[in-house]
Amino acid sequence: MQQDHKRTLITTALPYANGPVHIGHLAGVYVPADIYARFLRLRGEDVLMIGGSDEHGVPITIKAREEGVTPQDIVDRYHAIIRDSMKELGITFDIYSRTTSDIHRHTASEFFRHLYDQGKFVVKTSEQPYDAEAGEFLADRYVAGTCPHCGKEAYGDQCEACGSSLSVTDLIDPHSRLTSAPVSWRETTHWYLPLQDYEQALRKWILDGHREWKTNVYGQCKSWLDMGLQPRAVSRDLKWGVPVPVEGAEGKVLYVWFDAPIGYISNTKELLPDSWEKWWKDPETRIINFIGKDNIVFHCIVFPAMLMAYGDGFQLPDNVPANEFLNLEGDKISTSRNWAVWLHEYLRDFPGRQDTLRYVLTANAPEAKDNDFTWADFQARNNNELVAILGNFVNRATVLTHKYLGGTVPAAGELTDIDRTMQREVAEASARLTEALSTFHFREGLREAMEIARIGNRYLQETQPWQLAKTDTARMETVLNLSLQICANLAIAFTPFTPFAASRLAAMLRLGDLSWNQLGSFDIVAAGIEIAQPELLFEKIEDEAIQRQTERLEEIKRTNKLKAWRPEPQAPDIDIDTFDRADIRVGTVLECTKVPKADKLLRFSIDDGTGTPRTIVSGIAQHYAPEELVGKQVCFIANLPPRKLKGIESQGMILSAASAGGKLVVIGPTGAVSPGSQVK
Ligand code: 2FM
Ligand code: ZN
Repeated sequence: MQQDHKRTLITTALPYANGPVHIGHLAGVYVPADIYARFLRLRGEDVLMIGGSDEHGVPITIKAREEGVTPQDIVDRYHAIIRDSMKELGITFDIYSRTTSDIHRHTASEFFRHLYDQGKFVVKTSEQPYDAEAGEFLADRYVAGTCPHCGKEAYGDQCEACGSSLSVTDLIDPHSRLTSAPVSWRETTHWYLPLQDYEQALRKWILDGHREWKTNVYGQCKSWLDMGLQPRAVSRDLKWGVPVPVEGAEGKVLYVWFDAPIGYISNTKELLPDSWEKWWKDPETRIINFIGKDNIVFHCIVFPAMLMAYGDGFQLPDNVPANEFLNLEGDKISTSRNWAVWLHEYLRDFPGRQDTLRYVLTANAPEAKDNDFTWADFQARNNNELVAILGNFVNRATVLTHKYLGGTVPAAGELTDIDRTMQREVAEASARLTEALSTFHFREGLREAMEIARIGNRYLQETQPWQLAKTDTARMETVLNLSLQICANLAIAFTPFTPFAASRLAAMLRLGDLSWNQLGSFDIVAAGIEIAQPELLFEKIEDEAIQRQTERLEEIKRTNKLKAWRPEPQAPDIDIDTFDRADIRVGTVLECTKVPKADKLLRFSIDDGTGTPRTIVSGIAQHYAPEELVGKQVCFIANLPPRKLKGIESQGMILSAASAGGKLVVIGPTGAVSPGSQVK
């Protein structure tokens, strides 16, 4: 990587503080950003990594209302969870702050005011949804109604059932989620940023100037620009947010997507009150925005237009390496359906296994297309790659050094062709790793890092130092020296990916400060020093731990199915005579047994009042144990023609209710009745 800059400012999308972060956030934004930051730091670059919580926006107010607490309570809770869990995962933010900080409110407010004073906004009056009962304007999310596409309940911005993007006017019977009042419309005035004024500059900057951006990012920008840009409202009628700092704007706040990206600036200011400007305004600073694909337009079009409008030397990002989405076990991750692996829960369930999660999320990163996380793959990658390849190699090299040399690093003697080939391979993999990380190809980088461990294993297999120990000690010493040098290369190569294991490895080898410049070289560990006792870098993950996770997901699926259950639509009308023809009776169960070779069938013997027990075969064996219903009274249809099931003649049909989740519950009288009583 040619160094044409003095420093790099890394920003990471500010997660909404209306819930904890999950593996989708991590794979999309925080793990790749942290890999990149650690890589640059190892190269000796001047780096800042800026993060924080996005604490405004309508979903936070909705959650607060649902829980009967204030929006501040909600963001306080989730900000702490997010901040602490990311720290525990080893995401090395230089600052992780929040958009409810004073400094942010002040910075965002000043930003708006500066644009306002320079006449950069246009003012527009339009009709917006209004709840006359609550006396409040309604954000799209606050409106509910029927989705015109699928007929299910949807919100004014989106139908979660069928995934359609909607606007309030699309909904059938739109009503307020605050009071259920029908939506009325009222005029309101807002400030708009005329994005079309920046279209030419944006085209030049992105379409001409940044052809190297990832195709998903470049493509989205091009299609936005080709569609033509429109003025975009930057204020909202809402109580939660940064107040619009203009007279006559009472009850209005900055739109969350106006204030949130300014959070990157405020957080830099909070960290470096005296020198923040060089990170934003010096052309020799390189700004990299790590985001997910749903944030592309805001980071490549809207925020850059805001920065252009502001002027004063603010620099635009040099790259916006946005990722696609990660799915979980084949299904879209969803906070509302609880379909996610939450970071704080992962850390609780897999203590000390931060590296495994980082490794798996990188190996499966949705860099060019959506990708899938499965627990089976998580276990396989840990056991077959981290343990069996990386951990195994390091363990062999360090254990052999202790076994034959009491832990003292031997000197290398003359090199053979095998040694030189191995060294060349390590140097080549290192160069490919550096190139991959420099160009934001983290999955590929990880493969190259692992390739170094594979080379190490092959080298030990080829040279067999445990045999040499018997025949040629000098040669064995050379092989072990080189093997330990490979270990040192691994400590460097894996620092960005699995920093906890890498630092334990570096400590085992008594390495001081690591530098990326050493990667690919073979004089990192000094001969004569004593390495520490070997310890396992990774441990196997057992089936039970994985099973607990998959069972949890199954449980969530069941819960979601129950929540989504709706009664069947009513059947067409029948006349009373039709109903009367069905002879429904009550009987007492005398005996009940399983029907052999039939999973679903139970055979009942029922006292129907006639003195001769009636046999009925019913398909409810998966819902009842045979003995459960003995002695109970049940309803059955008595006048159906007899039917043979598995060779048994069934004389009627027991009635049961098909409940949510497919459970069948037998219907009987609520008080004791004489067997044979008719149901009317
Ligand atoms: O999509 C999101 O989760 C937003 N909270 C990201 C904001 S990024 C930035 F601009 F602050
Ligand atoms: Zn729908």
